[in-house]
Amino acid sequence: MSIDREPPGGMPTADPGRLRLPTEERRRLWEGAVDAVGRYLQDVDADAVAPLVDVAAIREALARQTFERPVEPLAALSMAVEGLRRGQVHTAHRRYFGLFNPTPTDAGIAADLVVAGFNPQLAAWSHNPFAVEVEDHLVRSFAARFGFDASSADGTFASGGAEANHTAVLAALESGFPDVGRAGLRGLGRQPTLYVSREGHHSVHKAARVTGLGAEAVREVRVDPALRMEVGHLEERIAADRAAGLAPFLVVATAGTTSAGAIDPLVEIASVARREGVFLHVDAAWGGAAALVEELRPAVSGIAQADSITFDAHKWLSVPMGAGLFLTRHRDLLHRTFSTHAAYMPRHESGVSVTEPHSHSLQWSRRFIGLKVFLSLLIAGWEGYGAVIRRQTALGRDLREKLAAAGWRIVNDTPLPVVCFVDATRADGASAEVVEAVARGVVGSGEAWISATRVGDGQPVLRACVTSFRTRTEDLDRLIALLDRVRRSLG
Ligand SMILES: Cc1ncc(COP(=O)(O)O)c(C=O)c1O
Repeated sequence: MSIDREPPGGMPTADPGRLRLPTEERRRLWEGAVDAVGRYLQDVDADAVAPLVDVAAIREALARQTFERPVEPLAALSMAVEGLRRGQVHTAHRRYFGLFNPTPTDAGIAADLVVAGFNPQLAAWSHNPFAVEVEDHLVRSFAARFGFDASSADGTFASGGAEANHTAVLAALESGFPDVGRAGLRGLGRQPTLYVSREGHHSVHKAARVTGLGAEAVREVRVDPALRMEVGHLEERIAADRAAGLAPFLVVATAGTTSAGAIDPLVEIASVARREGVFLHVDAAWGGAAALVEELRPAVSGIAQADSITFDAHKWLSVPMGAGLFLTRHRDLLHRTFSTHAAYMPRHESGVSVTEPHSHSLQWSRRFIGLKVFLSLLIAGWEGYGAVIRRQTALGRDLREKLAAAGWRIVNDTPLPVVCFVDATRADGASAEVVEAVARGVVGSGEAWISATRVGDGQPVLRACVTSFRTRTEDLDRLIALLDRVRRSLG
């Protein structure tokens, strides 16, 4: 980074508002930021994974910042860095067995820096042909990996899986009710209904609420003992709704549920969706990474039959937040769902057919999300990612075995590296009190991070996911030893 050089054209060295800093100060600030990130990622394992946070102290320190007087740049930077170091769960820690929030890739961090500096505006193609073309290329590349025909597939980057799922609900509405954009839901005459398993992500419910479908439009489908959607129950619910005069329009299958990593039976669900003429969306926010590795691909077979897919690069691909992807095999569906016109929208006059991001997304002004995926993938390649996914999957299997050998009962069944378990050595090991006490004990120790969740009919369980590409076998052993200490401390 050539921080020392002033841009040509004689930029004044001192901006009265200090939005552009004098050269030397700017250099120190940027180098300080790069340094702080480097040191953080180097030393993160030495800190408690979840530091004890003093909220009152944070608020007091912030209350002193009234923005009345300019603060020296390095002091301002250090306030932010210290605040983050002491006031967040360190998801980059190798013993963060967490909620799919990975250690960020070096390439992704560099990309975010470049994006902040170049500040590309991805509302319209004409403002950033390069960036939009990069994202288009990624959309086609990921679509092909999931088995879609790249020449007819389409998609958009999103802030994350929640926005991608929201996009799916909107796209499915457009697909099922082509007049909905004009006449609105009340023009439909019948209540549209959608189907998702009890283990599906809450963002589907939220999307139903905020699209105006209403929470009651979501039909929760039962799961089998492996926590996968019961296809028979899906069929029953659709039939009952049709008989009641409702309009089933969307099934959301999950490939890698948030709590337990369960993968719904995609082939069977796809066949129901086809027969019933409803849109099939597969939420593969985390588990979709299985499609990138040959021996794991069978676990998500059927995904290519989906009408659309959610995939988060900021989960298993370890790209910094937020990098969601919505993919569809219907070329014009996003355009039909989102395109609007306004006089101020820049038009392109290149004569070639292009993707207009604003006609593909809920967003208008948008960050160049794809660059962190592009750089990470350029540097690691599919093969590099395959190796990481394979290793984490193997560690997940080891964790399962080690937990079982140490007297924990494994509750979930998935090829993906997330393990749900309860204490089999005590009669009340599966009670909410014990499960939550164990999770609190582990997190409170600072040595590792796991969580408590509920699966199936509300069974409380502990949950540990091999989330960081930095996790190794010795971290699993530390976790097992810690769990043992915590359970013995409960008496
Ligand atoms: C299965 C699934 N879908 C969707 C989401 C939402 O993704 P995001 O957090 O990127 O919005 C998550 C988040 O964990 C998830 O596990």
